[in-house]
Amino acid sequence: MASTSTIATQCLGYTPIPVALLSADEVPAVDLYRKDSETGRLRLYRAANLPMQPEDLQRLIESETNWLYATDIDHDEMQRFIRRKLDVLIRDETLSLRDRFGKLNQVVEGLLTSAFQTNDTDEVMRSAGNISSLAVRLLCRDDMAAGDLISLLHHDYLTVTHSLNVSYMMVALARDLRLVGNDELTAVATAGILHDIGKLSVSERILTKNDRLQRREQRVAQKHPALGFRRLGKRTDVSYAQLMVVYQHHERTNGKGYPVSAVGDEIHPWARLCSVVNVFESLISNRPYRARYSLNEALSMMDQHLSDGLDQEMYQCWKQSIRKK
Ligand SMILES: [Fe+2]
Repeated sequence: MASTSTIATQCLGYTPIPVALLSADEVPAVDLYRKDSETGRLRLYRAANLPMQPEDLQRLIESETNWLYATDIDHDEMQRFIRRKLDVLIRDETLSLRDRFGKLNQVVEGLLTSAFQTNDTDEVMRSAGNISSLAVRLLCRDDMAAGDLISLLHHDYLTVTHSLNVSYMMVALARDLRLVGNDELTAVATAGILHDIGKLSVSERILTKNDRLQRREQRVAQKHPALGFRRLGKRTDVSYAQLMVVYQHHERTNGKGYPVSAVGDEIHPWARLCSVVNVFESLISNRPYRARYSLNEALSMMDQHLSDGLDQEMYQCWKQSIRKK
């Protein structure tokens, strides 16, 4: 499923609000703006004191308007509103678990995109923390198997989509391996969302290049773990384990990874966990220069060429997990 139409774009000074979370009986009492599809400018759509009718919402959906915007003066109120509505969504027993996860993923992908576009680490951290605690509540249920999860994900080549997918998969694998207690799964999810944060400091031209990268470009792209480490290294709200995920997720147990060719146990267990699902996720997602591989193709490529530098116990567990439905 393509997700591009669901993604909010950052408008400086405004907070995006997913239309999917609005209902006629509960609309935030703030001025709401809509993006003009031709000029890209925001225009007042509905003043705070005006009611919103079900037909208005219907019209927004029909015109594929997935996001409205509030000014940043109302940022905190809007964040509380979104959080409350997502809370209700994930507890909604009238929807299947798959439907709830699908809707949650769609909304959080847009919110995280908007946070990444600010290039503001505080904003990314806030967004990552909120998303992690919501997602883990669905992901740690016994009836949510890793195989099911994969069929619900988007597969675009976007750093945000990749980061979310890796985050969900890390939670599923950590849970199946019992690598951490349930109370630590949210921290694992946040580490997954943040693992490629260093890419915010790498040029978009390199990240979205249609051809394979040249050697010099590859060296620039491979700086992202160190750039991420630098960005998060001094923060008190990032744990050592999370920081190691950012710094070591491209290390390989056989010493053939980067940035410093660490080997075996020198690589933090959370980073080894991330490496397994990071390789897998990259294979099952579209790339500018190739289409995605099927699940079986991805596993057979990993078996033949890529699993040498991965933690074998984790990799074997992942193979079993994704075949479980
Ligand atoms: Fe990476």
